[in-house]
Order: sequence, then C-alpha cells, then structure tokens
Amino acid sequence: MCGIVAYLGKEEAYPILIKGLHRLEYRGYDSAGVALIDEGDIQVYKCKGKVSELENHVGENSHHGSIGMGHTRWATHGQPNDENAHPHQSNKGNLAIIHNGIIENYATLKEELINRGHTFQSETDTEVLVNLIEDIYRHAKVSLAEAVRISLNEVVGAYAIVVMDRDNPGQLIAAKKSSPLVIGIGEEGDYYIASDATPIVEYTKNVIYLEDEEIAVINRDQELKIMNLQNQKVTPYVQELEMQLEALEKGGYDHFMLKEIYEQPRSIKDCFRGRMNLQKGIIKMQGIDDNKDQWINARRIIIVACGTSWHAGLVAEYMFEDVARIPVEVEYASEFRYRNPIIYPDDIVIAISQSGETADTLAAIELAKKKGAHIFGVCNVVGSTISRATHSGAYTHAGPEIGVASTKAFTAQITVLSLIALSVAQMRETISNERLYRLMAEINSLPDKVAQVLESNDQIESISEIYKDVANALYLGRGNNFPVALEGALKLKEISYIHAEGYPAAEMKHGPIALIDENMPVFVIATQDESYEKVVSNIQEVKARKGKVIAIVTYGDEQVKKLADYTIEIPKTDSLLVPLVAVIPFQLLSYHIALMRGCNVDQPRNLAKSVTVE
Ligand code: AGP
Repeated sequence: MCGIVAYLGKEEAYPILIKGLHRLEYRGYDSAGVALIDEGDIQVYKCKGKVSELENHVGENSHHGSIGMGHTRWATHGQPNDENAHPHQSNKGNLAIIHNGIIENYATLKEELINRGHTFQSETDTEVLVNLIEDIYRHAKVSLAEAVRISLNEVVGAYAIVVMDRDNPGQLIAAKKSSPLVIGIGEEGDYYIASDATPIVEYTKNVIYLEDEEIAVINRDQELKIMNLQNQKVTPYVQELEMQLEALEKGGYDHFMLKEIYEQPRSIKDCFRGRMNLQKGIIKMQGIDDNKDQWINARRIIIVACGTSWHAGLVAEYMFEDVARIPVEVEYASEFRYRNPIIYPDDIVIAISQSGETADTLAAIELAKKKGAHIFGVCNVVGSTISRATHSGAYTHAGPEIGVASTKAFTAQITVLSLIALSVAQMRETISNERLYRLMAEINSLPDKVAQVLESNDQIESISEIYKDVANALYLGRGNNFPVALEGALKLKEISYIHAEGYPAAEMKHGPIALIDENMPVFVIATQDESYEKVVSNIQEVKARKGKVIAIVTYGDEQVKKLADYTIEIPKTDSLLVPLVAVIPFQLLSYHIALMRGCNVDQPRNLAKSVTVE
C-alpha cells in the first residue's frame, strides 16, 4: 500500500520528505509526489515511477518551504500515472492531501460533488475526499480540522491522510482509520507524520500512534491536539521508539532481501533471547503466562494470516498439534472473515503478521473478537495496528524487514510459534521434560545451523544460474515441509515472476505430475524424517518423467544424491524444526534467480510490503 510522510517545522521540508519517501518506498512504488507551501502557494510535484524519478522531475525547480507532504503510491483506484499520483489538490487549489487507504463510497460522493460543480483531474478516490473537505470548508464556514472531521463522518473505508491549506502554512491535519499513521514529536517543536516510524527515527524517538477515527491538529510551535470523529478531545499517548536507524540501512549488502536472509542467525536468536532458559527448562512468554487458563482450557487454536505469515501458521499447526495436543485450524484471513466461521469463546485465535497492518488479518481479528475468542498476536512491527488490536501477543524481534519478499520474519515467526507451542505443552503437561529439553536445545542450535546453510550460497548461486530461464517450477514437501514448499514457490513467484507451485509431495500423483518434463525443475525437501522413504519414491516418479530434481537433503545423504540432479545439504535438525533450516536455500535460490533475470528483488512489480486494504 502507499507510504505517506509530512513535515512541519523550522527546517526545509523537501529533503526530509524525499528521504522519508525513500524509507517508505517498500510500501508502494508505482508513482510519487510532494507538495510544499512556499510564499503563500502550494507547489506540487508528482510523476509516475519511483522516488528517484520524482527527484529528477523536481530537478532545479524551487522546492522551498518548512511545511510539506510526500506520497509513494501502490495503485488501487486509477492506474499508475502522473494524474493519479498524489498529492491531490482541491478545485480551488488551496487544499492538498495525501492518502493511504481506500474510500469505498467515493463514487457516490463524487457524483454529489459533480452535481455541486466540482471537477476532477484524476480517477482517484483521494481527489474526491479533498474536494469534499473543500466543499464543507467553504460552505459551512468551519475550521479546516472541523471540515476534515465532518467529511470523514461521510466516508466509508480505510484512510490515513494529511491535509494542508495554502492559506494557513502553519498547520497540518492528520487522521486515520485502519491504515497506519504515526506522528513524531521533534525537540524544536518540529512534527513528522508518516505511515510508519522508518522516516521519523533519525529525527526523534518520541512518537504517537494515532488510533482509529482520531484526528490530529498540528500547529507550528504549539502542542498537538487530538480529537475523534465525535469531536471529543483525546489525550495524546507518547511512546519511545525502540527502532535503530542503522537497522534501516543495507549494511554493505546489495539488497535488503540478501541482508535480511543473512540476518537470520541473529534474528532467530533475538526471538528466543530472554524467553528460553535451557538450564531450568523454562520458556517464558509473558503474553502466554498472563493468560494461562485460556491456553490450558483452550478448545481449539485458529490461526489467521496471509501470504508468508500463513505459511508460518501452517508450520505451527504441526508443532501445536504434536506437542500441545490442541486441534489447530489455519485460515486465510481474507476467506475466514467472509465465511461466517464458527468461533467459540474458548477458542484462541492467533493472528500472524510481519507488518501488523494487513487489512485482511485485521478484519479477521475484529470478527473473532466479536465472537468472544481470545486473540493472540504474533507481529514484528512494534506498535503496529494488529499488535494494538489483540488481547495479548508476542513480538518476533526480527528487526525492520524492508525487502518486500519476507524472509527473516518467516523464520522468526516459526521460532516464536514453536516457543509458544512448547510453553503451552508444558502448561498442559502434554510433553515429557526429556522431549521439551531436547526441542529447546534444538531451537538454541538453530542460529548456527542456519549460518551453516548460508555457507552454501555459492553452490546455490550456481544452481540458480542453471534454472534462471525456466518458465515454471514445482516445489514438493511432506508434513511440515509442505508449507516450506509453498513458501519456496511464493518466493520464486513474487521476485522472479516465474510461475511456481508448492504441493504436498504425495499430491503430485493426483494431477501436477502431468506438468513434469525435462523443462520442469522440481525442488524437493527430502530431509531425514519419518516420511523420507516416501519422498524418495516421489523423486523417482519425477525422474521417471525426465523432470529435473533439486533436493534439499540432510548432511551425508547418499541415496537422494544418486537420484537428484542437484542436492543442497542442510544440518540434521528435529523434524518439527526442519522448516526453519530447509527454507534458507529456497530464499537464496529465488534471490539469485531474480537477480540473474534483472528483477528488482527488494521492490518486485505489483507488490507492496504491507497490504493495508482488503
Ligand atoms: C511475502 O513475501 C509477502 N510480502 C506477502 O505474502 C506477506 O507475507 C503478506 O502480505 C502478509 O504480510 P504480513 O505478514 O505483514 O501480514
């Protein structure tokens, strides 16, 4: 979805806005724009393409002013072009707006405004909103903040907006509903507004996360005021940011995705640091301990998530059912919320989200909440909407994930979910101490094992060279490696644009095997576990149809080595934790293949890091 940023203070706004847009570009990158108030006029610069193209577009034109706003877009209404790029101005040109979200009833509002003489340059819902605000501002003779409040009471949908008035260059109005918005309070009375904290952290650590249906009135050198849509005053809640600036840099890697793949030994360790005491055999998860009875008496666990987080949920299903003996259902959040699901008050709903802003997952949470379930969140972004919408939760501490293709968040999610499952198993006495200690020791060894697999990067790069021009690919796995096959296929699809499918290995005979010929690479997870022999037979079935097999095997495996075209070895790991290690080669394969195909691995086409609209 889009990234929005705004500034009001003593400094030149333009450089702050441009740097902020670069930080937010992973949220959407099909067009960008800025607006500044300078000498009583609004200067708007916007164009199709990335922020770097916007900078070229602005070039030497004057871009002064200590108040301004910026936007990087992921198109929802109206194709990516100069007209539909943000910011948008009202008909009279006195108001400018940036918006992240979707105004669902914009067509009705637009019709009414056209009947009232308004005209439109773009196809966007956002231009409708700024003209609605202008219409009320002019006819109702109210303050800008009040015009915004009245307008938003007519709006149906999701929004994070910032509005400014040419005739009042000392004020910004910001508001949010569903889409994220954070306000940074600078030392010198400067204000920074953005979709997340990444554009703010280098200027201040003091932030306010606006809640749904709140409006912030920000005046130069004055205390900011917050009210809600019912015009009630709200006391601002200032929090301290934990994020570090250097975490937002590439740290010497060519791409954020590669950096984040190589950060996994550290990010997995940060997940269990302070949560696992090997000596005492204790797992300490505050969110679990605070709701012990809920977990001990839970009838069922329902996991809701999207994309890679959904795959982590599928892996967790095996762990929870095996060690905690609780039935688990893993649901696509987007389907779950429209299916009228049966939810009991003694169900626990685990919502998994890296960004903590995914609209489908948020909507699934709201539905389950209404039905009385206890909602436990597993999020990576501190202070995100989902982390504040759940009853309890656990952060994954993977650090900011900038690459659109999720990597370290996936292994961090599985690590945290494994700790939760073991902690609940200990509470429900469904696991022997011997097995608990062994699994805790295995988790403790994961950072080293992942580091070992990363040493195979060169071999994986050379295998990528061989398959970089394929049109299709199949990924196969059994048991909790099936979700890893799905994840491997998703990684290849989303950054190299090669069509790929993940399947349970046994399911192949029921159809997909028809796709196999000498042009079809088949990536198989064939690690030493109870289904090994079955996977070997599946590999023979593929080879019998001249398919090319690239197998992930356990160190020292000789049998599959004789069958497969290529094998990538990984350290022996408890079968419940293999997914954390087996996924690494698939992450690197997709990275190298995408790079060799000249794709933008950090900002793949048509995608965005967090999907804040349904
Ligand atoms: C994964 O690489 C994608 N970026 C996407 O599938 C992502 O996992 C999905 O949008 C869910 O995002 P979330 O974890 O932030 O909720």
